[in-house]
Amino acid sequence: MQLLTLTNLDRCTVKAIPPAHRVLSVNEMVADGLARTPKRLPPILFYDAEGSRLFEEICKVPEYYLTRTEKAILEQHAQGMVAGCAADIDLVELGSGSALKTRILLDALFAGGHTVTYRPIDISRSMLERTAAELTEEYADLVVEAVASDYDTGLAEVGRRRDRQKGFLFMGSNLGNFQHDEARDFLATVGAAMSPGDFLLLGVDLVKDQRLLEAAYDDAAGVTRAFNLNLLTRLNRELGADFDLQNFRHKAVWDAENQAIQTYLVSTVQQTVRLPEIDLRVQFGAGEAMHTESSHKYTLDGLAGLCREAGLSLTRTWTDDRGWFAVNLVQPVQPTPVSHRR
Ligand SMILES: C[S@@+](CC[C@H](N)C(=O)[O-])C[C@H]1O[C@@H](n2cnc3c(N)ncnc32)[C@H](O)[C@@H]1O
Repeated sequence: MQLLTLTNLDRCTVKAIPPAHRVLSVNEMVADGLARTPKRLPPILFYDAEGSRLFEEICKVPEYYLTRTEKAILEQHAQGMVAGCAADIDLVELGSGSALKTRILLDALFAGGHTVTYRPIDISRSMLERTAAELTEEYADLVVEAVASDYDTGLAEVGRRRDRQKGFLFMGSNLGNFQHDEARDFLATVGAAMSPGDFLLLGVDLVKDQRLLEAAYDDAAGVTRAFNLNLLTRLNRELGADFDLQNFRHKAVWDAENQAIQTYLVSTVQQTVRLPEIDLRVQFGAGEAMHTESSHKYTLDGLAGLCREAGLSLTRTWTDDRGWFAVNLVQPVQPTPVSHRR
């Protein structure tokens, strides 16, 4: 990790806040998920240090069009996206990761003479510290106030400040990892942190040809496969489990009913796995699929409806020529003026 200089420390804070609501520990998540039928492991477990590194690799594989396409949309339209921003703005990014694409918006804001405080929220403190240090090195005028916590706690923290315009960012089609109701509740929580004039830039992946979608989540070089299997390596290390990675295969399939790519780890043999840290022995049948991630894809009408359900309004969309990905401007619904009769 790059060391912060003293000057940068003046402009860069990373505040770690314990989640406001009790969240399940890794042990509890795993015990709960493995007790279910069908078995599942929550996607938040992907992001240990190696998982975060592998996600960066995934973004570069030819089949994974999502990052490249979203980046191209931002590069083409960043000026328009920041056109309505106030002179002083807080840019609040949810699940910021390496903030690769954020730099495009920062460049556009600084080119337009704005004063920017970047407020990333990420559960991965190590990733957040690295990104915060890099950004303060790269942008001499940028102030970074990072929050290491979960989305809800981070939003409550940044939502307390109402004196400057807030532009929220939720990129990379992260919304797609939520089920429909979770996505609606998440958007409503973002809405609750907004003041009139605030906005959300929401990057989502769009419904498209099944073969393109499945290839993106099962690339020829096997990086998505390695990312999925890394979950088991993590459980072996952290829970003393004895998952034999040779006995599981990666599977990614289009689920037309739910408009999502579903990712699984499939047991190739009948086997028993021990997880001594949580005092568990788990049986897997040959061919049994354990769910690890849903990646929902959207139509623009569907997304507009979801925003409405969350009390928000989808007001503008920027997309690529092929219509594969969309960056959307989402704003609080303006209160309808009340007319008073005499
Ligand atoms: C797939 S990466 C996306 C990074 C970046 N936004 C992009 O578009 O490339 C997801 C990021 O969200 C973070 N994350 C996942 N679940 C989270 C949660 N519940 N609360 C806060 N951060 C979370 C992960 O640590 C990771 O850095």
